[in-house]
Amino acid sequence: MANVKISPSILSADFANLGHEIRAIESAGCDWVHVDVMDGHFVPNITIGPLVCKAIRPHIKTVMDVHLMIEPADPYLEAFAKAGADYISVHPEACPHLDRSLQVIRDLGCKAGAALNPATPAHVLTHVMDRLDLILVMSVNPGFGGQSFLPSQIGKIRELKTMIGDRDILIEVDGGINPQTAPLVVEAGADVVVAGSAVFGKGGQDESVYANNIQAIRDSVKGQN
Ligand code: DX5
Ligand code: ZN
Repeated sequence: MANVKISPSILSADFANLGHEIRAIESAGCDWVHVDVMDGHFVPNITIGPLVCKAIRPHIKTVMDVHLMIEPADPYLEAFAKAGADYISVHPEACPHLDRSLQVIRDLGCKAGAALNPATPAHVLTHVMDRLDLILVMSVNPGFGGQSFLPSQIGKIRELKTMIGDRDILIEVDGGINPQTAPLVVEAGADVVVAGSAVFGKGGQDESVYANNIQAIRDSVKGQN
């Protein structure tokens, strides 16, 4: 299996300097850039939309990993694809016709992801497995950075790993990931870990620590994959 990928969430970055922050995490060695899109309706917080995604796209040399926490999601899929998303993940609760939404994402030329809230069971994806490139397991209730990891999600990751079988689908885990929790999710089957506060720090941006923070997560899962 390939190495675990680290996708820092720019939710914890300095929003007044997003281009700079993205260049800093990429030179610090991240693999993807995770973009949390929130609407104040599906989740209790509001962040950014397709215009900001488009503006930051030229600063991303790796992979733009867009996590849509918006309801409805369907009317905006094209805008995020045009903004340059590589991966677009939607929540099944926000997409009543999930099978169609996943097809649309692929037809737009992006990789299709489904994101599962902590209370959402793995089996909602049983009949769309062949439409997926990514499954995003939320290990906190979405809406905010800096929350504590929910160990209840480890069993779900294992279950999804079995459901995936030999399909080419990545498991990404998002929420409360740090050098203590990353080994737990990687051992269960995670291929990509999202980390916001564990990369950017809590309060006060100090980019000199980004490389150490990313390396600490990488070291914590060394030898597991
Ligand atoms: C939560 C977001 C996460 C969050 C992760 O709604 O989807 O990506 O920013 O932040 P940490 O790593 O601080 O839990
Ligand atoms: Zn996210």
